Amino acid sequence: MNELKISILGTGDMGGAIATALSRRTRHSLRLRGAQPGSTSALRLIDALGVTEASKEDFLASDIVFVVVPAASIEEAAAFLNGYQGIVVAVSVSGSVGRDGLPSSAERIATALPEATVVSAFTSIWSNVIREPGTSGKTSVFVSSDDDNAKEVVSRLATELGFEPINGGALSMALYAEVMGMFAVRLAMDSGYGRTISFHAFNAG
Ligand SMILES: NC(=O)c1ccc[n+]([C@@H]2O[C@H](COP(=O)([O-])OP(=O)(O)OC[C@H]3O[C@@H](n4cnc5c(N)ncnc54)[C@H](OP(=O)(O)O)[C@@H]3O)[C@@H](O)[C@H]2O)c1
Repeated sequence: MNELKISILGTGDMGGAIATALSRRTRHSLRLRGAQPGSTSALRLIDALGVTEASKEDFLASDIVFVVVPAASIEEAAAFLNGYQGIVVAVSVSGSVGRDGLPSSAERIATALPEATVVSAFTSIWSNVIREPGTSGKTSVFVSSDDDNAKEVVSRLATELGFEPINGGALSMALYAEVMGMFAVRLAMDSGYGRTISFHAFNAG
């Protein structure tokens, strides 16, 4: 895969895991930023991975921007990315997804960034598994978008990271993959499976 300019907005548990995986397992150029320039979480990753903090201009010039912020911060994050015309990978999941009648996080980003091409992916995977995909089988990454080319680019990225991309249909399907993310949280916490519980889609026929 050609070298891509990838930026990550949100450098907490999940943004940090994605940054670490991209940095260690691919050759793409990587920049990142937390809620503010120089935020502690971003500086820690910059130090650990030898990557650079992303300016607003860096985000606008990116091929792919990962949005990995709390769902409550989506509109604020989108305002920061105003004018971006590339691919957004929407990773955010609301704690009340599927129960509040609201659109998916991915659709909220698409509404707030009408010039961008939004792809929902990595919503149903724990950060632990992003960091260390494990050896018990490939975890599925459900990839949903209204743009087939963008879906293909993000699917190839998921493959490079050691996962199995699954065609998750149109962006309107993103809600279901986000609900699976919340289900993974409940399976880990309430059912005792822990933070490596993963989904693998396969055709049993
Ligand atoms: N953790 C997982 O395993 C996992 C898996 C799948 C999906 N997700 C989803 O990924 C998202 C992030 O989860 P997390 O666990 O990484 O949360 P987290 O550890 O609380 O990190 C949130 C990050 O978002 C940043 N942020 C907050 N508001 C922002 C804004 N307006 N602009 C830019 N950055 C902003 C914070 O910046 P500062 O550090 O500067 O405060 C922080 O780096 C959530 O929507 C979650 O549902 C998480």
